[in-house]
Amino acid sequence: MDKIVIEGGSSLRGKVLISGAKNAALPLICATILAPGKNILTNVPRLGDVRTVLKLLAIIGAEVDLEWPRVVVDTSELDNPVAPYELVKTMRAAILVLGPLVARYGHAKVSLPGGCAIGARPINLHLKALEAMGATIEIKRGYVEVTCDRLRGARIDFPVATVGGTENVMMAASLALGVTHIHNAAREPEIEDLANMLNAMGAKVEGAGTSTIVITGVDSLHAVEHRVIPDRIEAGTFMIGAALNQGEVELQGVNPSHLTSVIDHLRRAGVTIETRTDSILVRGPSKITPFEIVTEPHPGFPTDMQAQFMVLALAAHGKSIITESIFENRFMHVPELVRMGAQIDVQSRAAHLLGPAFLEGTTVMATDLRASASLILAGLIAEGTTQVLRVYHLDRGYENIVDKLQGLGARISRVPSELF
Ligand code: UD1
Repeated sequence: MDKIVIEGGSSLRGKVLISGAKNAALPLICATILAPGKNILTNVPRLGDVRTVLKLLAIIGAEVDLEWPRVVVDTSELDNPVAPYELVKTMRAAILVLGPLVARYGHAKVSLPGGCAIGARPINLHLKALEAMGATIEIKRGYVEVTCDRLRGARIDFPVATVGGTENVMMAASLALGVTHIHNAAREPEIEDLANMLNAMGAKVEGAGTSTIVITGVDSLHAVEHRVIPDRIEAGTFMIGAALNQGEVELQGVNPSHLTSVIDHLRRAGVTIETRTDSILVRGPSKITPFEIVTEPHPGFPTDMQAQFMVLALAAHGKSIITESIFENRFMHVPELVRMGAQIDVQSRAAHLLGPAFLEGTTVMATDLRASASLILAGLIAEGTTQVLRVYHLDRGYENIVDKLQGLGARISRVPSELF
């Protein structure tokens, strides 16, 4: 397996173009199931997870044409409403085909995802919502089978704001009979992007981006062309990279309004940030101020930026506290950072970090997608050489990260497995 090798000490300088959002592209691709015909998606990031969901669509019967960053998904004739274990185990978001498949076919068979590195991540809320819409749910041999001739509108009250759950219900409700109200809906920008595409397809979705979404079901939807929104997590990761070692980076092709909480927290840490319509200039300070962060559903601080902010905390002068409130096991990067010399004390869901840490390069292991990004950032401030193993996690969610960092002056390379 390939590894990434980083020489510490360089500061990032220059311009970087941010890719389309993985977490928007995945539900958008699943939504094409609802609209028979040639759906065209642009600004699609070339990533492991995106390939996996496209493979899934092909298994279901769609014709997929890849002209990155443009992807054509022809869903005119689908004949196999099944998501097999082999795919779902590598990418939990495959569960997002459930709502659209039941809505279009009256039936879906999707493998249960099982646990994952950052926590149990159940799908009970997805299933309960579909049940409230009239579906019959059966669990057989590790698969969930959902059946319903025609879903009907319902009132869904989510006890916790779930991104995937909200997306699944929005898609299912678009073709249901009657009106669906989602209360305590997730408010992420990716939800709004999905609503925009569904509405362009002929759906009636109102309130996306707020905690109450109302969907009036229609009888059919039609294929569309849609541009994926920029990846706010990739953007946030490069912003941290710029903030370290007094870098100066202009991010292009971003939407600053999706990054409000990240920008606020960076400013509090002393980082200079200038925002324009679709670009952000980041300038790292000579001394980073310590900070406290609690992850929350959007518009709060995103859990997907927690691991990267830990590296900023390690570069800060003083004690920072980072509390993870979304996932119960999302500190797997901590032991790796400690191996590099970090002082981090985890008490329940709060990590107490003392900076500035003197980090030394060594060989570390990526444990999940965002953890891999934090190890690369740590490599930028560490003395000597850091080698990050298990880079397949990174390939799931960061498009050309090595090339992009090289373009900003980082001393980083990817070493193919046959060379070591
Ligand atoms: C999405 C994102 C992921 C991000 C997460 C939280 C995608 C493809 N992935 O994941 O990057 O980290 O949102 O912002 O968009 N929960 C239940 N039962 C359910 C569903 C969720 O208890 O049926 C819980 C989860 O365990 C978690 C919380 O709800 O504690 C939020 O999870 P959720 O928003 O559903 O995350 P995902 O959609 O899986």
